[in-house]
Amino acid sequence: MSKIIPKIWPQELHTKAKHLILKAYLQSWLAIVGQRFQKIVYVDGFCGPGIYENNEPGSPILAINTIKEVLNKLGSARNLKSEKIELYFFDTDGDRIESLRGEISKTSIDGSRIKVVIEQGEFEERVLPIVKGLQAERALYGTISPSLFFVDPFGVKGFSLSLIGEIFRLNSSEIFLLFDVDGIDRILRAWDEANSHIMLAIYGDSSREELLKIKDLPDQNQRLKMLRDLFWVALRNQRVGGIIPFGMFDYSQKILYDLIFLTNVRTGFSKMKEAMWKVDDSGEFKFSDAEHGEQLRFKFTVNHEDNLWGILMAKFHGQKVSGLAIKNFVCDKTIYLDKHKTAALKKHESSDISKKDSIIVSNRIRNYGYPDQALIQFP
Ligand SMILES: C[S@@+](CC[C@H](N)C(=O)[O-])C[C@H]1O[C@@H](n2cnc3c(N)ncnc32)[C@H](O)[C@@H]1O
Repeated sequence: MSKIIPKIWPQELHTKAKHLILKAYLQSWLAIVGQRFQKIVYVDGFCGPGIYENNEPGSPILAINTIKEVLNKLGSARNLKSEKIELYFFDTDGDRIESLRGEISKTSIDGSRIKVVIEQGEFEERVLPIVKGLQAERALYGTISPSLFFVDPFGVKGFSLSLIGEIFRLNSSEIFLLFDVDGIDRILRAWDEANSHIMLAIYGDSSREELLKIKDLPDQNQRLKMLRDLFWVALRNQRVGGIIPFGMFDYSQKILYDLIFLTNVRTGFSKMKEAMWKVDDSGEFKFSDAEHGEQLRFKFTVNHEDNLWGILMAKFHGQKVSGLAIKNFVCDKTIYLDKHKTAALKKHESSDISKKDSIIVSNRIRNYGYPDQALIQFP
């Protein structure tokens, strides 16, 4: 039986980590799209009461405060193009919605620029008019305003693969989604015709056979891995190009959920990687309450340059490749950032490295860095 959660509950450490990632990404997203688009849309589909028992802000207040910070920065620099920032907050629980209204009334919002809609109701139902409205922009203006959807349910219910597909057909939309693989596994193990619709909503009807095969595997770790992989496949079929998962673990190192970022925008992909690196500097994109204790600390255990060098060599050894090709490969296909790429290449250009492990760089304008047109000969 699922436990009853009060209207306002204590914030746990993994929620703090989730909020740090959300805030870091919102800062980048707003700064980028705010300078390019007249209208931007942010939807927090499972918004909660706006506050935690220990007075920490809930995700809607975190978003509003971040928007105000970014607006102050951009506004004073006269850089802001967005005249309309639309924020939508939905929750099925009426008491939480009331609490959120109270919390939002304490924030001073520039109503001429920021439109806030707070509604009680199911995310799946409430979000559809927004998606349709955005779709209609294509016909009217030839372009669609960028949108970011934060999908943060308590468990596995409340979103569907078909809705993700619908949102992704907007092209410029991105989703930050809590994927409760452990909860999904529990529902799968208790599969019967009465609950199968929950699984099929998440995975799509065409995954039925595959799910039933996974259900009977005795090893839970194997099931969890296969459930994740199957979801990735289902997402790819909905034309989701970029998927970045971030695992959240509890004190006993048991998986709580994955936070998954979905995007088809290359800048969004690399900015979310940066946000996740801020929370887990190990590059494993994993956060555990046990390891981090009372404070969020970063781990510096892994040598990222060497890891990335291994990946680059597996891909490019013996080849002469442009700086642009390496940059795009690192951005799109690895968890690493541009700074890791520069460090890895720099290390293998230094005189401390033996010739057989060194790169040779040509076609550089300046005699440092790895610009797009530079040519890098791998050993
Ligand atoms: C994990 S909490 C959200 C926490 C909040 N996003 C934050 O970070 O501060 C999930 C919320 O979703 C609400 N909820 C549950 N099912 C829902 C649904 N189908 N649509 C919208 N909200 C739902 C619950 O009442 C709860 O407040």
